[in-house]
This record gives sequence, structure tokens and C-alpha cells, in this order.
Amino acid sequence: MADFDLLIRGGTCVTAADTFSSDIAIKDGVIVATGKDLGSADKEIDASGLLVMPGGIDSHVHLAQPSAPGTPQMVDGFETGTRSAIAGGTTTVIPFAQQPRGAGLRETVEDYHSRARGQAYCDYGFHLIITDPTAQVLGQELPALVADGYTSFKVFMTYDDMVLNDRELLEVFDCAKDCKALVMVHAEGYDAIRYMTEKLEREGKTAPYYHGVSRPQIVEREAAHRAISHAQLLDVPIMIVHVSGREAMEQIRWAQQKGIKIYGETCTQYIALTQDDMKGFNMDDSGSKYVCSPPPRDHDSWDAIWEGIRGGVFQTFSSDHCPFFYEGPQGKMTGKAKTSFRWVPNGLPGVENRMQIFYSEGVGKGRITLNEFVALTSTNHAKMYGLYPKKGSIAPGFDADIILWDPNREETITQAGMHHAADYTPYEGHKVKGWPVMTLVRGKVACEEGKITGSVGDGQFLKRDYSAFVD
Ligand code: URP
Ligand code: ZN
Ligand code: ZN
Ligand code: ZN
Repeated sequence: MADFDLLIRGGTCVTAADTFSSDIAIKDGVIVATGKDLGSADKEIDASGLLVMPGGIDSHVHLAQPSAPGTPQMVDGFETGTRSAIAGGTTTVIPFAQQPRGAGLRETVEDYHSRARGQAYCDYGFHLIITDPTAQVLGQELPALVADGYTSFKVFMTYDDMVLNDRELLEVFDCAKDCKALVMVHAEGYDAIRYMTEKLEREGKTAPYYHGVSRPQIVEREAAHRAISHAQLLDVPIMIVHVSGREAMEQIRWAQQKGIKIYGETCTQYIALTQDDMKGFNMDDSGSKYVCSPPPRDHDSWDAIWEGIRGGVFQTFSSDHCPFFYEGPQGKMTGKAKTSFRWVPNGLPGVENRMQIFYSEGVGKGRITLNEFVALTSTNHAKMYGLYPKKGSIAPGFDADIILWDPNREETITQAGMHHAADYTPYEGHKVKGWPVMTLVRGKVACEEGKITGSVGDGQFLKRDYSAFVD
């Protein structure tokens, strides 16, 4: 009888803290030992020449989230979304359970469980999107749900069907403080966006490109500052998500320098796409492929985002995977979207490309260290969202969610190579160096050389516990 189920031998292990050459012994899906000459195993994987890192944790993805009836629906559910995740080296995702206004949160969560159960290739949790913070939601449902492992909420400062006013934001922040949960804030100013949208429409500026014009960095900066002020007022930590550029980054940095507990997240599109992508070919419909919120900005913003990453302003790097078809009757430009950018569904697919692009642009170009890469793609997500010390590192006791990464492999991202259900990737043609060659989910090889070897249903729901992290 062998000592272990699996040994990963000869690789260079990378954690958020260290880089070291070590074998990894796995039993029952958990890392049980690291070091050399560990013993015998039923199966061995040769990792020589490869980096061995904790599987990615993508704490910002949208899967199986319904859009308004009669409008294009999100195309990845848990099966295709987590398939795409593992192909890109991500082994845990935290999508959202969105409360429809008027609905209870408990029923919302049960609904999302039924969408996910038995459908996932990798482990998952849920953030709760609060659209209707009633006394019942704040007083009873949220405290009970946090205790049940839903330790983070998202609130929106824009979007007709989700926006909260300042009083409601304050109520949710205070509730999160009491129950020790982390609030993620979508910071864009609702009134300013509506005003700009109507003005652009009156001027006949309705192409997808004007989506970006309707919500420039100023509206993101204003909302970020307002959210920060509310958080400071109540002394509650918040996370400003999908920060797109210099203006909001500087607000977060300013707050952090003053000792206000503000965290920041940024995403692939803000280091790899620009507002000009939304022009398409000569302002045609294809610009809609890049429509998301906040919109991609410009090269100065890319620089600012890297400044924030290197300076510790951002703790997490996510994809904000939110996929829609481009072509066909469910496509981004169907129905009213032809009449104005206002109706183009917001969101891009990207869970599969997050680590590839971040590695290539970050580690590959000398902007961040390998250890920072692991922190920003895995460890910090685990810590902030209540998954540590189960996920997010390579050490005895952690789940054997592990990726083997070839730092020298050069690839070009193409839709043909993708594992999502969307019919395009916004990163088509992007060249990267560094690539995940094998993904293990709790000790099982889930993807090898782009071929899915895991089974749908391998992924389990993660009950999270954030209380240990809150100071
Ligand atoms: O455009 C985006 N980001 N769509 C997803 C929803 C959100 O705000 O994160
Ligand atoms: Zn958002
Ligand atoms: Zn590009
Ligand atoms: Zn999102």
C-alpha cells in the first residue's frame, strides 16, 4: 500500500510568501506533506521545469445569473463556466446570487444552489447581491446567511434594477459590520450616468462606443469616494470591485493612506483592453463585444492599475467573467441594443484568460514577482472571502487545488481554444507567455493540456468563514 494517492515531483513551488523546490504529497484530496523523499504514491506527476502554484481563485464571476426577461441571457452556467475556469488554471470561483427585488434572500440562495448543484467542475461559493435591503433582509436573513457561509455581499451604486441609494448603502454596510461580512461595491454614479446617457442619445450618439463616454472615470471616482466616505463614517471595511483606472485607484490609495479600511479589486480588462476597442470596426456593432462596466479605459489607466497593483492598493485580481453571445438572437446587439448602447448587455467572458494575461503582463514583463502573482490570483481571495487556510496556498492541510504552469510556453488566445459557452473572446489574438498545463481540483487532474479530465459534479459548495480575517 502506497503512502499517498499522488506525488507531484520535481517542480518549483510558488506561494504568496515563498518560492522553493519541493515535492507535494496528496492524500484524500488534501496536501499532506511537502519536501523531498516523502514516500511512495499510487500515482506520480513529473513537474520538472514547471511552476507549481495554488489553483487560481476568481472571486468575481457571474454564472447562471438571469437577466431581465426578453433580453439576452448570460451564456455560462456552472458547467461551462467552471469548465472554462479549470482550463485557465482557476480551481475556485465565487459567483453571485442576485436577489430579485421583492424576493427573500434565502429563496434566492436556494434558487442559485439548484443552478449549481452537480453542475460544477470546481468548488464554488456565492456572494449575495443585495437589491432590496428590507428590515427582514438586514435584520434576519443576512445574519443567518453569513453564519451559513455566505460571507460577502455586493451592492450596486448604478443599474436600474439594482441601484441602492446612500441610505440603503449605509444600512447594508452597518449590517455587514455587525455580522462580520465583506461588502463589495460597484462604484459608478447612477444619476450622472443616466444624465450622460440621455444627452448622448439626444445627440444621436448611440453606438456601443458611447457606452464608455456615458460613464467616464469621473463617475467612477465620485462613487468610489462616496462609498469610501460611508465606510469611514461607520468604520466598516469595504472592497471596491472592478476598478478601471487612475481616478478610482487614487481614491482607494488616498483612503488607505489615511488608515481607512478600503480594499480594491481590479480585472483583466483594465490591463488588456481600451475604450477604443468599443469602436469596433469603424463604430460598428462589434464594439459591443467589449461593453462592460466600468468600461475599459486607456493606456494611462493600464499604467495606473499596475501602479496600484505594485503599490498594494489592490488585493485581488479577478475576471468579472460575465459572458453573453455576440452573434444570433441572444447576441449583444439584438432587440433594443440596436437603438442605443444603453441596452447592450454589460459584461465580458474572461475567467479562462485571467491568469494567462496577468502572468504574461505581470510576471513576464517584470512588473510583479511570482509570489505577488499567487497572492493576487489566489491567496488574497482566500483570505478576504473566508476560504483560508483551506484554499489559497501549498502547505500541509490545504486542499490539493494545484496548477502546473509552464513559464516558457507561448500561446495566442483564440476563441477556438476556449472552453466557455460564449461565441467570442474579447482577448482574441492576444499573445501570452506562460500557460497552465495541468489543473488539479482537490488532488484530481481536472484539466490537462486543455483537455477536460475532471467530471461535472466534482465541484462542491464552499461554506465560507470570514470572521477570522476581520480585525
Ligand atoms: O459589465 C459588467 N461588469 N457586468 C457584470 C456585472 C457587474 O457589474 O459586475
Ligand atoms: Zn459590478
Ligand atoms: Zn488588445
Ligand atoms: Zn461583475
